[in-house]
Amino acid sequence: MVLLSGTGRTLRNLLDVTTSDNLPLEIVKVISTRRTVAGNDVARDAGIPLSIVRRRDMRTDDSFSNLIFQIVEYVEADLVVCAGFLSKLEVPDHYMGRVLNIHPSLLPLFGGKGFYGDAVHNAVLESGMRVSGCTVHFVDNAYDAGPIIAQRCVPVLPDDSVQSLAGRVFEQECSLYPEIITDVARGNIRMTSTGVQFSLDSASHNAGM
Ligand code: GRF
Repeated sequence: MVLLSGTGRTLRNLLDVTTSDNLPLEIVKVISTRRTVAGNDVARDAGIPLSIVRRRDMRTDDSFSNLIFQIVEYVEADLVVCAGFLSKLEVPDHYMGRVLNIHPSLLPLFGGKGFYGDAVHNAVLESGMRVSGCTVHFVDNAYDAGPIIAQRCVPVLPDDSVQSLAGRVFEQECSLYPEIITDVARGNIRMTSTGVQFSLDSASHNAGM
């Protein structure tokens, strides 16, 4: 199950690599929080059942999340993958460790409310940092703050614009996210009460650069 709010580039990439790399993943459903975003067309074009669940139509984060997880249970999805998903999610206890997100910075830097899209890369450029990157983490009930599974670094170059930096980071996202999703699906990476547990098969992710 993929959750999105935007252009669907991440969904497109997951569809591509699932087919081309023969990954043991099947996207059974997409939930979008917006009626007219390009991500909806990516799902429709791929023939994936799509539902629109808008946060603004629900009274609380709790009722919004309840509806989403009712759909997750209905379609019997094993994993929930956030792919450019911009709403706060409250994860029921029995789904902890089965919900993943990717963020376009080296969390915990440049994460949390307001840090999405260009705003993230703009803040990195303004900070003077010489590296940036992306982070895959388990989603818990704190925004952008669940246990970190893996990160990839990219250089920040002297003449970088928001667009050039965003492109360099997204390129890393396109390989890292499918790898981690596959490892979580295979049980090689698990969320524990103290963080993340890796089996030997998945250890190489920690050296990602
Ligand atoms: C990516 O930068 C990802 O890190 C963040 O959303 C962006 C992708 O959104 N979570 P989209 O797939 O282009 O809508």
